[in-house]
Amino acid sequence: MNQPVMGGVAPLNAPAYIKQQKLINWVAEIAALTKPDRIYWCDGSQEEYDRLCAEMVAAGTMKKLNQEKRPNSYLACSDPTDVARVEDRTFICSATREEAGPTNNWMVPAEMRATLHPLFDGCMTGRTMYVVPFSMGPLGSPIAHIGVELSDSPYVAVNMRTMTRMGKAVYDVLGADGDFVPCVHTVGAPLKAGQKDVAWPCNPTKYIVHYPETREIWSFGSGYGGNALLGKKCFALRIASNMGFQEAQQGGAGWLAEHMLILGVESPEGKKHYVAAAFPSACGKTNFAMLIPPGTFNGWKITTIGDDIAWIKPGADGKLYAINPEAGYFGVAPGTNEKTNYNCMASLRENTIFTNVALTDDGDVWWEGLTKQAPDHLIDWQGKDWTPASGTKAAHPNARFTVPATQNPVIDAAWDDPAGVPISAFIFGGRRSTTVPLVTEARNWVEGVYMAATMGSETTAAAAGQMGVVRRDPFAMLPFIGYNMSDYFQHWLNLGEKVAKIDGATLPKIFCVNWFRTDEQGHFVWPGFGDNMRVLKWMLERIEGEAGGIENIFGTTPRFGDLKWDGIPFSPEEFETITSIDKDAWREELKLHEELFTKLAYRMPEQLKAVKADLEKRLAR
Ligand code: GTP
Ligand code: SPV
Ligand code: MN
Repeated sequence: MNQPVMGGVAPLNAPAYIKQQKLINWVAEIAALTKPDRIYWCDGSQEEYDRLCAEMVAAGTMKKLNQEKRPNSYLACSDPTDVARVEDRTFICSATREEAGPTNNWMVPAEMRATLHPLFDGCMTGRTMYVVPFSMGPLGSPIAHIGVELSDSPYVAVNMRTMTRMGKAVYDVLGADGDFVPCVHTVGAPLKAGQKDVAWPCNPTKYIVHYPETREIWSFGSGYGGNALLGKKCFALRIASNMGFQEAQQGGAGWLAEHMLILGVESPEGKKHYVAAAFPSACGKTNFAMLIPPGTFNGWKITTIGDDIAWIKPGADGKLYAINPEAGYFGVAPGTNEKTNYNCMASLRENTIFTNVALTDDGDVWWEGLTKQAPDHLIDWQGKDWTPASGTKAAHPNARFTVPATQNPVIDAAWDDPAGVPISAFIFGGRRSTTVPLVTEARNWVEGVYMAATMGSETTAAAAGQMGVVRRDPFAMLPFIGYNMSDYFQHWLNLGEKVAKIDGATLPKIFCVNWFRTDEQGHFVWPGFGDNMRVLKWMLERIEGEAGGIENIFGTTPRFGDLKWDGIPFSPEEFETITSIDKDAWREELKLHEELFTKLAYRMPEQLKAVKADLEKRLAR
């Protein structure tokens, strides 16, 4: 199997343990196009990880952190123009524009291929092409899917090892004819003979392209996060959401790929539930997934299944089962500290890759919010000297860490269970300084789908572009849906309907939350973080039929007395400021729902239009 690539590029040298000729041929074909100097087949071993990291340290891409303070950990700083997902450069190239829908960028597939071909031609010259085999979901699980990423970035190779089940064993599952999603990634910075490399190569031209029909991913020009670690947003959300929808189109129940954390919550009586929560990027999923209940919540336990993505399938028993397809966390650093997320800080003690945080004088890391007082001197994420007087941010607002999920002290015992865990509730939450109350329970599945579909949120640093603008972000999936948004709403409705018909079925309850309402001074009123447990507890009691609440125009909300307040001084007046419903503001909000419905008019489910009409009637009173 050691045939050289046609066209005189690097020798293929496929390892003998790879039994699939189709895969080897594809690697050869991409190598012939991209023309790397070398091809390296990743085996996923610790030795390989350490070696690639050492090579990146030598090349200046990463710094090794102080081995005593932060064992086996590294800091990578990106090019200042390559710091977040690029939504305006992300494309869903379905056969027709309708299939991609009005919320996605689209181009005729053949036209996109013609655009990309010259960009990928020779794009890896002077570099190594890493062959990265990975499984999204436990290896060999019936719900898992395999991908192979070809990338000229060693940073991608090592991050993929942490974020996915990456390595040799994937080829055993793949066998001679198993399916895989082919993912091609390049930083788009070929090196001429003798040309010196830069620390973070990338290209001002960027394309993040998905072909749903052939289930291919092509990414050009960025080395950062979701643009480059193609198992995550590109595969596990965009391609996977399309796969789950197609399965339903072909007559099955289908499944869901969602931008959701999954957590387990156990009461002092030992009653355990799993809930899945969708919040937009940088809106608190990682925090919620590892929450530590307030001290007065004796005996309550939270455990983590996942912090970013959930794959959800209906079971024969009428329950929805969820797995976390990832194996690591690529989480936001700024704002994370021992108080806001102790478990996360504990996870980051070793074996962590930090990206775009600041470096301390003793070789450790720092970011805004890590400590109350900033150190007197730092090297900021752009490599410049920094002091508290600098007036700039030492860490980039979208600075992140990559860490194995197994380092989370509250990882759930079932986090790796191929069967998944049954979901009792879905929670949807945006970042809204006004209008949206702390928590609302939908009266039924359709109303819950409406709430999720019309959710708004202020934009964050997770995506390139303006920050803090309220936009509709249906299901927190606006940047991640791999097909037509209206079809996606319909898919949720259909799935609910199908599951409800199963004997003994219990559909998860749907809740809508907002931790982010502010007072006149712009401060968050709700303490958030661990105190979100108070809201979670109410939800669980609602599931058990134990807690009270009142019905308002949208659904059911708790009264002050329905939440447990021990341990914090939170007054009924403060509660009022984050739960009050301002009818005028809601009439304005409904105009934004209307705008969304107009944009998505083509195939917008009638059932959702009916919910909106009802809501409008109630608001008019
Ligand atoms: P992605 O990884 O981008 O998908 O996002 P995520 O939802 O996992 O984001 P993460 O949990 O890392 O959110 C980070 C930001 O949310 C930080 O600025 C936190 O301070 C803030 N945050 C998280 N939980 C809360 C909360 O309960 N209240 C408030 N006010 N802020 C919170
Ligand atoms: C997000 O932006 O929602 C993330 C980070 O989880 S990234 O992987 O870069 O998309
Ligand atoms: Mn995310």
